[in-house]
Amino acid sequence: MNAPAPQPLCAQDYADLARQHLAPAIWAWLESGGADEITVRSNRAAYDGTRLRSRVLRPLAGAHTRLDLSGQALAHPLLIAPMAWHGLVHPDAEQATALAAAATGTPFIVSAQSGTPIETLAALPGPPHLWFQLYAQTSREDTLALARRALAAGARALVLTVDAPVNGVRNAEQRSSFRPPSHIRSVHLDGLSPPSSRPTPPGGSPLFDSGLLDAAPTWDEVTWLREQLPDTPLWLKGILDPDDARAARAHGIDGLIVSNHGGRCLDTLPSTLDALPGVARAVEGRIPILMDGGIRRGTDILKALALGARGVLIGRPVLHALAVGGAPAAAHLIQILRGELEVAMALTGCPTLADIGPDALWDR
Ligand code: FNR
Repeated sequence: MNAPAPQPLCAQDYADLARQHLAPAIWAWLESGGADEITVRSNRAAYDGTRLRSRVLRPLAGAHTRLDLSGQALAHPLLIAPMAWHGLVHPDAEQATALAAAATGTPFIVSAQSGTPIETLAALPGPPHLWFQLYAQTSREDTLALARRALAAGARALVLTVDAPVNGVRNAEQRSSFRPPSHIRSVHLDGLSPPSSRPTPPGGSPLFDSGLLDAAPTWDEVTWLREQLPDTPLWLKGILDPDDARAARAHGIDGLIVSNHGGRCLDTLPSTLDALPGVARAVEGRIPILMDGGIRRGTDILKALALGARGVLIGRPVLHALAVGGAPAAAHLIQILRGELEVAMALTGCPTLADIGPDALWDR
């Protein structure tokens, strides 16, 4: 008789099972980081090296995880990070993720590189609470058209990702010879101008001399987009530096996502948990901060909140669960992390998110 399949109990269980389910090249695409993956490991190590302070005999009656994030009422502080091409890990693709998001009251930040149109996701039962992530396109008009399309479909905030004007050097993915199959593509980019590309002159640089960086956004694009969409909640994703955080505030940005792209871009960047306090000091509580990178436990979430984040984005673990069991598994993963956060809150004597501050940490 076969033993029953093991029941995943934590995010790592889903990662272990996903690895068995996925082709090695897809696993490499999903899991890999930049170069030597030092930043990927730092993201995790920062949580593992931060100790919690347990507080006892505090009143916990009426405890909850509710929050108001810039006028959006959320049941808990978890969001699903924007990630390309969910169809690579499960045939139900972004629709399954959106259903899991709706079932668990989790905002889903749909990637500009989604394989499913945002209109299809918005029409699902729930309906799901959607945000939309943008990359600045070659032409400003295309960026604005994409933003307006997402807003027309019901996206409740826009996230401009600013830390990846070029892909990082992802050697593990290169070694795996990963290529997306032809049926997986970024449907929102259909009909938009492709990045300009000139032949590289002899002796020239394929990156610097090919025109690839001509469209790399600057603060001018942020100013322009802000002016075009004055009433839309506009977040920047990929901020680590306090000066950039101050500049974002000066440009009228509504919120920041402290992120190093899950360690997928520039290797040897600091962990997001280490970068978070500097960004929090820079914005002085005037705009909300979310953060992501390496969150695999409810205790990780509590540590991020203790250092100034209002909420956290969950990246790879959502795709791990999706690979293992589609929408129900992705919803289960969110429930696991939320449940772990609640246990951590109770055991640190924090009945609400507002009670979680630096004194929830042992050595801060
Ligand atoms: C990403 N990420 C990402 N970010 C973004 O702004 N737009 C995107 O299209 C993608 N695509 C993407 C694909 C895959 C496979 C991964 C793993 C990541 C980055 C993502 O939003 C987030 O910042 C990190 O994944 C967070 O780190 P963890 O939770 O994966 O460790």
